[in-house]
Amino acid sequence: MSEILNQQTSQEVIQKEAKKKVIPKQDKPPENDTGLWKFNRRSFLTFAGWLGFLGFIFTSIIGAIRYMFPRVLYEPPTAFKAGYPDEYTVGEVSERFKDTQRVWIVREEDGFYALLAVCTHLGCTPRWLSGENKFKCPCHGSGFRKSGINFEGPAPRPLERVKITLAEDGQILIDKGVTYKYEKGEWGKPSSFLPYRG
Ligand code: FES
Repeated sequence: MSEILNQQTSQEVIQKEAKKKVIPKQDKPPENDTGLWKFNRRSFLTFAGWLGFLGFIFTSIIGAIRYMFPRVLYEPPTAFKAGYPDEYTVGEVSERFKDTQRVWIVREEDGFYALLAVCTHLGCTPRWLSGENKFKCPCHGSGFRKSGINFEGPAPRPLERVKITLAEDGQILIDKGVTYKYEKGEWGKPSSFLPYRG
């Protein structure tokens, strides 16, 4: 009986001693450290350093690539071919490219000119009224003669003409990127009119 009590007492003492044991802090190497703790800490710092360095290299490369390929808004080309001169009738205002290019092509006795189908008031698209021989804007009623000159409504100036030339293959070449304004005396410039008699 006394042996059993002694055994229980000694077990309790062992358990109490075990509870008293303090787990050493890990922010500094233990006294009996063999160097493993220092090695792990150094490895971690090295790893973090490399990670930062590689991150820097990666972001630099991405930046360089984006610099070489900037976000540019590529707009559709302003020039287009409008067929051969013989396809147009003298005196005609062709609306063939009005919807797709916002351009009228006018065939006169001695050549061609091209008008931008953009009202000079607020930018609406006028209509060609062949019966009245004029362009009429549906928004606020501006009127333009066949030449493009404004004569009624709030439009402050004539329609603009655009560059018209002949391409190497003989087709009419229109370039909306080059415009000619009447009020600036630009309708007299060579490419604002394409001389043609056919
Ligand atoms: S936009 Fe054409 S008259 Fe106002």
